[in-house]
Amino acid sequence: MKIIIVNGPNLNLLGEREPEVYGSETLNEINEWIKNHDICRDIELEFFQSNSEGAIIDFIHSKRKEVQYLVINPGALTHYSYALRDAIVGTEMKAVEVHLSDIHDRENFRKISVIKSICLTQIFGEGKQGYIKAIQHILEQE
Ligand code: DQA
Repeated sequence: MKIIIVNGPNLNLLGEREPEVYGSETLNEINEWIKNHDICRDIELEFFQSNSEGAIIDFIHSKRKEVQYLVINPGALTHYSYALRDAIVGTEMKAVEVHLSDIHDRENFRKISVIKSICLTQIFGEGKQGYIKAIQHILEQE
């Protein structure tokens, strides 16, 4: 089984970006931690991050024949990107939406997700553990 793990804009700055909100670990450290997690032992993972909406959509398109499952932290694209939503629907990926922070306990604009209703579930406020919960959720679908 293969899962792609996609992180959107500004998540490349994890570790230095608002550490009081997002923690002190870098994205590479989090990805390594995910890769080495026991739950991933029989799963092939591929990681992708971009600050560009188009590059993320192109990446999802490029995987559509090969991969069925997507774990995505879309960053701020969450709140407005109908193009990302259409890409997930159009490729028939089964997606889990993840946020490190509790988007429901921050500014009002963060409470809105335009992809939530087309995802299997939304996980928020659990830091890096959220990615593992997302993978666990996918495994339970199989
Ligand atoms: C985020 C929450 C978003 O509102 C924000 O724009 C991010 C990160 C999170 O992981 O908590 O870039 O997706």
